[in-house]
Amino acid sequence: MDKLSLKEYLAADLAKVSALMKESLASDIGLLEKTNEAIMQNSGKQLRPILVLLVAKACGVPTEDTYRFAAATELLHNATLLHDDVADNSPTRRGAPTTMSLLGSRASVLLGDFWLVKAVDRILEADYEPGVVIRLFARTLSDLAEGEMLQLQKASSCDTDEKDYLRIIYNKTASLFVAAARSAAISVHADGQHIEAVSTYAKALGLAFQIKDDIFDYQENAAIGKPSGQDLHERKITIPLLGALANVPATQAALIRRMVSALPAHPENQPLVVEFVKGNGGLEYAQSRLEDFLNEAREAIAVLPDSPEKDRLLKLTDFVSERES
Ligand code: IPE
Ligand code: IPE
Ligand code: MG
Ligand code: MG
Repeated sequence: MDKLSLKEYLAADLAKVSALMKESLASDIGLLEKTNEAIMQNSGKQLRPILVLLVAKACGVPTEDTYRFAAATELLHNATLLHDDVADNSPTRRGAPTTMSLLGSRASVLLGDFWLVKAVDRILEADYEPGVVIRLFARTLSDLAEGEMLQLQKASSCDTDEKDYLRIIYNKTASLFVAAARSAAISVHADGQHIEAVSTYAKALGLAFQIKDDIFDYQENAAIGKPSGQDLHERKITIPLLGALANVPATQAALIRRMVSALPAHPENQPLVVEFVKGNGGLEYAQSRLEDFLNEAREAIAVLPDSPEKDRLLKLTDFVSERES
């Protein structure tokens, strides 16, 4: 299933989510209004609200809280991208210049703060268990900050192993998928077993999703909509490189790590590291770990009752494996 057919299937629900987001973001400050509008126009895959809506429908009947949490999740996601593009100094996203490159870091950080706080407001409106859900999202935000800090720490030590890597990608990406799925299940008053099932599913799906993003960073493909080679440039050791390092003798692996560590002084070595990854099975290893996580995701939701939305949650795992942007 491609993402477009999911968007079509959920078109009416997603329109409601967008309307809530727009309502949240309204401001009489012209620059804010104009920038928000531009971001809403080029809205990306909307995978997280899709996840909220499918989980809610697979576990029960959507409520007003479902739409609030879907809007909050996407507001929060966009806030993290506005901040991430500053942290990563990224020129493009979704095939267009980033807010950071158009208006500068200050504007991007402030706008991110604005979107973040609007997400919090939406959650606090919930009819059922707003305190539980706000704590879930608070946890995700602290996970995110810790993940980004650990990533920074590891970029200077260059000693990332797979355990560190998995912690980083859980924190920066999968944690929000978990908050999205759990809040969706809570919004339809699902029972504990189903809440746990969709959490396990979302965690594995989120890890696989970030692994795919890290594979993209080793590929030249305009469809991705953001530049490749950024991770290595920032000395982020991700799973394709870890896979290749595991396939060579320890002395060679140490040499490559030193080369990564010295990239700021010797950027001309970056293509050598990319060749090393491609020539030593790094991308194949990453894809196989991704498939392991997707199998975990599929197994986790076996306990849900059969429904068209459960089928679509299963198909979403294929989308994560095959996606090209
Ligand atoms: C980008 O997320 C950040 C990552 C977690 C890799 P998406 O790839 O879901 O971004 P958009 O919203 O579709 O642009
Ligand atoms: C994405 O990390 C995680 C976020 C929470 C923003 P990346 O830095 O890898 O994301 P992209 O590649 O810029 O989308
Ligand atoms: Mg980034
Ligand atoms: Mg990335």
